[in-house]
Amino acid sequence: MIDAYIESCGGINNVNRILSSQGRLIVEVDNSDLLAKSALDNYCVTMSQVSFEIGHNIDSSKLIQLGSEIRNRQLHAVDKLTSPQKCEYRPSWHVAPPTGLLNDPNGFICHQGTYHLFYQWYPFECVHKDKYWAHLTSTDLVNWEVQPLALTPSDWFDSHGVFSGHAVSTPDQLMLYYTGNVRIGEQRDRQTTQCLAISKDGINFQKLGPVVDSLPAGVTAHFRDPKVVKIGDVWWMLVGAQREDLLGRLAVYKSHDLLHWKFDKLYGDDLGDFGYMWECPDLFELNGQLIAVIGPQGIQSCSRHHTVAHHNGFLKAAISEQGELSLSDFKMLDHGFDFYAPQTLETPDGRRVLTAWMGLPDEINQPTVDNGWLHQLTLLRQLTLVDEKLIQQPIKELEALRSTLEEFELEYSSRDLKTKAFELHVELEWGSKLSLFKDSENECSILLDKSSQTLLLDRSNTLLREGDCIRELKLDSETVSFQILADNSSLEIFINGGEFVMTSRVFTPERATHLALDGKAKFLFWPLSSAKIGLKDNNPIAI
Ligand code: FRU
Repeated sequence: MIDAYIESCGGINNVNRILSSQGRLIVEVDNSDLLAKSALDNYCVTMSQVSFEIGHNIDSSKLIQLGSEIRNRQLHAVDKLTSPQKCEYRPSWHVAPPTGLLNDPNGFICHQGTYHLFYQWYPFECVHKDKYWAHLTSTDLVNWEVQPLALTPSDWFDSHGVFSGHAVSTPDQLMLYYTGNVRIGEQRDRQTTQCLAISKDGINFQKLGPVVDSLPAGVTAHFRDPKVVKIGDVWWMLVGAQREDLLGRLAVYKSHDLLHWKFDKLYGDDLGDFGYMWECPDLFELNGQLIAVIGPQGIQSCSRHHTVAHHNGFLKAAISEQGELSLSDFKMLDHGFDFYAPQTLETPDGRRVLTAWMGLPDEINQPTVDNGWLHQLTLLRQLTLVDEKLIQQPIKELEALRSTLEEFELEYSSRDLKTKAFELHVELEWGSKLSLFKDSENECSILLDKSSQTLLLDRSNTLLREGDCIRELKLDSETVSFQILADNSSLEIFINGGEFVMTSRVFTPERATHLALDGKAKFLFWPLSSAKIGLKDNNPIAI
């Protein structure tokens, strides 16, 4: 019967998506001129969707087969993409998409001795649209091999986006938990389910469909980004949620077999009104302290220069004897401009390592879009807890990129570094101003304002097209130490040994390679060489 419906829609080659909701089969078509009369009667023009009432006995194996035909077409379309355009802003050692838009890192995990890192990708344009999972692997956390696409938005439960999620490694399989995002009908009604895909070889994934197929009571369809962690003998799935009264919360499901999930509770009432949605949760232990990470949207910004609704931070978490979660003490994870949706993994030697999207949901007009790509991931950071402070430091593996050390002093002077990919260490007095990525018209500056004991990061004199220009950070240290890692259009600034981090995309021309200091200080400087990030045959994804 499904075959007859597909035929009335002009055949499978005219089908963009298959959806299924409340006993209806919904077929989104490419060309409505090919619709038979019977299909035209049920046609929603705005969504190009034809809806057939077929009751609840939908043949799920047939839907899976249609999904795999759509997937083959999607893979073919990605294969046909032209190679990346040359672009002066391309990073030389960060992960960035060859074309299209990258957002959240996903499924970051060590599985059978190999690191796997996926990212949200819309391959075809620099816009937020039906997301795919791109896939990279590494054995050293520095060089990354591009693998075949892991997941495409091909099936009835994820046809408007294979949204963010995490991975679980078991002895015999790699499991990906993600949100299936679907939009139905005239109103573009959102439906979200938490789905599972598994792989025996770590490269080819088989979708098993939704493992959480309905919303908890009182929760809107803004329900996404599953993180699965083991606590004692029980698996917990944390899901970012929005209550119907528009408060962000954390939903928890529990399972003994990773397949069957029972809703536990919505957590987060301890924080009261704390934003309208919480995205991308994480939960892990650092030095015996449980830490939760959330992306609360719509919380109060800490400064008038900070106009962005999307925040990221960490909380102290605790689990009671009854297995209930409490959260307290929210602090920002990053004080720069471009940092969102972080994920962590544990390395085999027990380190907690974080990466994040170096971008924000509303930013889509950056100079790189002229060359067909947008956004990148952050460098990998090791997290530790020292005297109750969360410390972030670049992972030690990145030292492999350092070329020969140069030591120099600047005193109200400047120096041509001759590169925009470098690592710099310096300790500055209050009252100093450091300018990076500088030429005669452009610079990104770090000003240590003595009277207010505030660090001001200022990118107003750059080629930025949209977004905030100033970030402020109050500090109480006598001097301020910096470890700065630069990569052509990004600066990651680790302050006072990693107690604070400011992550920013900074666009200045290729020739803007000068460093200038109003003040006096000694610098340690390493040019950084390129990482190998590309296909196995050495065909670089970044050119
Ligand atoms: C965060 C986010 C997630 C969602 C994904 C979609 O940036 O909005 O909540 O799963 O991006 O790409």
